Amino acid sequence: MDPVSTDLLNWYDAHRRVLPWRENPNVYWVWISEVMLQQTRVDTGLQYFGRFIARFPTVEDLARAPLDDVLTLWAGLGYYSRARNLHKAAQLVSEAGCFPSDLKGLRALPGVGEYMAAAIASIALGLDEATVDGNIARVMARIHADLGPRKAMWAHARAHLPRGRAGDYNQALMDLGATICTPKSPRCERCPVQSHCAGLLTGHPTSFPPPKVKKTVPIVPMNLTMHVQRDAVWVGRRPAQGLWAGLWAFPEAGEGQGRRIGAFEHVLSHKRLAVNVWVSEAPPPAPEPNWSGYGWVQPQELQNRGISALTAKCLSLFHEDGTSRGDSHSRA
Ligand code: ADE
Repeated sequence: MDPVSTDLLNWYDAHRRVLPWRENPNVYWVWISEVMLQQTRVDTGLQYFGRFIARFPTVEDLARAPLDDVLTLWAGLGYYSRARNLHKAAQLVSEAGCFPSDLKGLRALPGVGEYMAAAIASIALGLDEATVDGNIARVMARIHADLGPRKAMWAHARAHLPRGRAGDYNQALMDLGATICTPKSPRCERCPVQSHCAGLLTGHPTSFPPPKVKKTVPIVPMNLTMHVQRDAVWVGRRPAQGLWAGLWAFPEAGEGQGRRIGAFEHVLSHKRLAVNVWVSEAPPPAPEPNWSGYGWVQPQELQNRGISALTAKCLSLFHEDGTSRGDSHSRA
């Protein structure tokens, strides 16, 4: 067998992270875990995974559930299109009666790209497919001292693939990238493949991969107003398309109204929002086109609905503000 994968798999067998979808690598669990971990760290993903599987034990349960319930469980994870795609894909799988059994079929599911299709195929279906995510790309760039593009890393990953153990191989590379071959301070002295690493031989392993050209993301001001009436706050549901689609939110206006209770920066993939949060006893503004479900709700009730991390930050400012004035959680 390839010496890199031999040493890697020996290390994985002794040191792998124990994760539910590794103990029971059925295709439903593996798929959910891959979608969650796409933009989320394993420790955070684990908590969401447990709640998700408890609420939707099977793909049929997920397919039958209202999208709202899925979004509620997803609240705080971000990238909500992942949850919408998951729901849509569950309905397709449920209608078909089973999950796809090859790479092409997996790739056709909404939200499943090249990386994820190969990850699921190898981990859950036992197919001999290599895959490359950010961690694996970094490991390959270093082992081969290769400054090349992502495509080259796929070729390297395929070159070391051990037949019959692709799922373990892929996950070993993920673990190595997450725990040892880290971006800034790799622990090369503890690395199971150090003797095969051309990057280490150069003396500058962190030169691989080359730094990304940082895209400059614009800073965009945003004013959100929490209109209050007795112990309730005014919310609406955002349009079905676009940012935070279908999530509950406070109205946004060019200028805030009332009293400013706080400000924070909220970073998205394509912009940084400079958010000001206001509280106002003035009547709420006219409905926005494509928003729906407007109404007064108890602030604590919003915890049980689909809200974004940004809305959750507004709510905690609101609670802090209430506490500092001596009432428990709301403005009368
Ligand atoms: N990140 C994405 N998929 C993963 C997996 N199966 N194990 C660990 N980290 C991951």
